[in-house]
Amino acid sequence: MNIKTLAMMSLLLLSQNAMAEIVVGFAQVGSESGWRTNFSNDMREEAKRRGITLKFADSQQQQANQIRAVRTFIAMRVDAIVIAPVVETGWTPILRQAQRSDIPVIILDRNIRADEDLYLTRIASDFVEEGVKAAQWLVENEQDECRVVELQGTVGSTAAIDRGTGFNRVIDKHDNITIVRSQTAEFTRNRGKEVMESFLRAEDPNSICALWAHNDEMALGAIQAIKESGLAPGEDIKVISVDGIPDYFLAMANGLANVTVELDPHLGAPTYDVIQRYLKGDTDIPKLIRTTGDVYTQATAAEEYQKRSQ
Ligand code: AHR
Repeated sequence: MNIKTLAMMSLLLLSQNAMAEIVVGFAQVGSESGWRTNFSNDMREEAKRRGITLKFADSQQQQANQIRAVRTFIAMRVDAIVIAPVVETGWTPILRQAQRSDIPVIILDRNIRADEDLYLTRIASDFVEEGVKAAQWLVENEQDECRVVELQGTVGSTAAIDRGTGFNRVIDKHDNITIVRSQTAEFTRNRGKEVMESFLRAEDPNSICALWAHNDEMALGAIQAIKESGLAPGEDIKVISVDGIPDYFLAMANGLANVTVELDPHLGAPTYDVIQRYLKGDTDIPKLIRTTGDVYTQATAAEEYQKRSQ
């Protein structure tokens, strides 16, 4: 082999190394809501755009499944692990294992209660703020006595804990607004409908002024229950929610829901940006990267639905 061929071969090897494929393991919560599906799709599409191999685990809303998936990713020696945690507690042992194997972990969306040194960063919205914005809309739009029923998200999840905290923080300052019933519907449409039906049985339906749902999916189930009870959702019972999924914009455009606080599902780009920077040796990465969302009402719902359903 002559010198020229040797040089060509080394160049080829070098460029192959430089483009070495990045493998990311992602332990997703599940597919309980339209928002979650949009978020999973964004993670997949953005990985594809960047030539990243994504190992995707749908954990069916079970933390035990997520921990099992992370253990598998560690055994596979992936380049980075992404966790969108179901609940906040119980993460320390598996994060220690990832750290011992030198695999960076990125937390998306909901929070965890663990030492910050155990993960690289968290990319998430401020869930307390979402609850505050939802309640502020109600305060501004309801001066009379208002009895509220609440559909909570998954017990132990940041999205449920913090949205509840934010909402209560605002209404506690307004004597006319009271939460009279509150129960989890696990962020799903079916449970949203069932729990709303039970609220409508337990209370005089005409005495309920508003529904506060911790996500659009549960609100959509509840809207169905309200309709079936003979009342008009969006009018007789105001509907307040979080996420901003196309189906909910359509409901608002049709006058069946009143307001939603948007939760951005486009977490793929910021996640892979962080991973690619870190793998190139950049360690100057903030512990928290915030995403934000606006408040949307019936005023712009039809237009927003058009944009978001294309
Ligand atoms: O953690 C975010 C929440 O999880 C979304 O608001 C909800 O739709 C999802 O299930």
